[in-house]
Amino acid sequence: MKEIQSNLLKWYEIYGRNYLPWRNTNNIYHVYLSEVMLQQTQVSRVMEIYYPLFLERFPTIENLANASLDEVLALWSGLGYYSRARNLHKTAILSKNNFPSSQSELKKLPGIGQYTASAICSFGYHQNIPVVDTNIARVMKRFFGLRDSSSKIIWEKAEEFLNHQRSRDHNLALMDLGSLLCTPKKPKCEICPLNKRCLGKFEPESFTQIKKKEYEYLELFYGVYIKNNKIALVCTSGNMYKNMLELPSVDPVEEDFLGSFRHSYTKYRLLVKLYKIDELEEEVIWINLNSFESTPISSLTKKVKKFIA
Ligand code: ADE
Repeated sequence: MKEIQSNLLKWYEIYGRNYLPWRNTNNIYHVYLSEVMLQQTQVSRVMEIYYPLFLERFPTIENLANASLDEVLALWSGLGYYSRARNLHKTAILSKNNFPSSQSELKKLPGIGQYTASAICSFGYHQNIPVVDTNIARVMKRFFGLRDSSSKIIWEKAEEFLNHQRSRDHNLALMDLGSLLCTPKKPKCEICPLNKRCLGKFEPESFTQIKKKEYEYLELFYGVYIKNNKIALVCTSGNMYKNMLELPSVDPVEEDFLGSFRHSYTKYRLLVKLYKIDELEEEVIWINLNSFESTPISSLTKKVKKFIA
């Protein structure tokens, strides 16, 4: 085991993503923020856009807690899964004076589950504990030859494999191994540092069920109501974009058709059709078209600007 663990760390020193900014800080708020962003978003988008943007606007957890939810949602615009932003804000308010340092306390906060709690404790507080995300789970399944295993067993195996002398680097190395070599399809077993002891190397793809994505196709009809360079938006209460501002839904009237575009959001594949309107019964919020950037709107609503010449 020691030899394999050491091979893994040697590999990480050469090929690992140890340059990622949240791996090179002891600021627990930065670590926490990165983990929330990385939950459903690619590393490159977090690193290049959203992580620096958030830290510039909210350099401390107090700054985040003191901001309005609208401002947080506006900055999150484009990242999707907006419940993450709402939970981030709630957690900042709840823990600004005393950010927890144990997994059990962290898990009581909104938006923090087993993975995120362990990632904060391992990467931020350097605690000697295993971390299991989807990448590490796949590595564990293959390495230990586990089929149909429960998450409990996978966590136990991660504990068994943990390098207690360098647990933080060990966890980061496994994460990178899963994302760079031990990929769901066509893993690069020939160059893997765990190859010698891996029980899954003869049929690695048989350990992963590649889920077929199930999309939901919807057609949405929105009204575009403009007065004095301002656009009428409504506050949503539905699940998809809760607390965000969006265009009012309308019944389509063909002669008022302005244009349409396609938009993908989580599992939804949307065809969005826009109609010009000049009255509305709902309560609306007038947003100046020049201040779209600082408004809590989704990428979908941002796209509408292209249709307003
Ligand atoms: N480094 C630390 N946490 C990470 C994560 N969730 N994804 C990618 N790299 C990370």
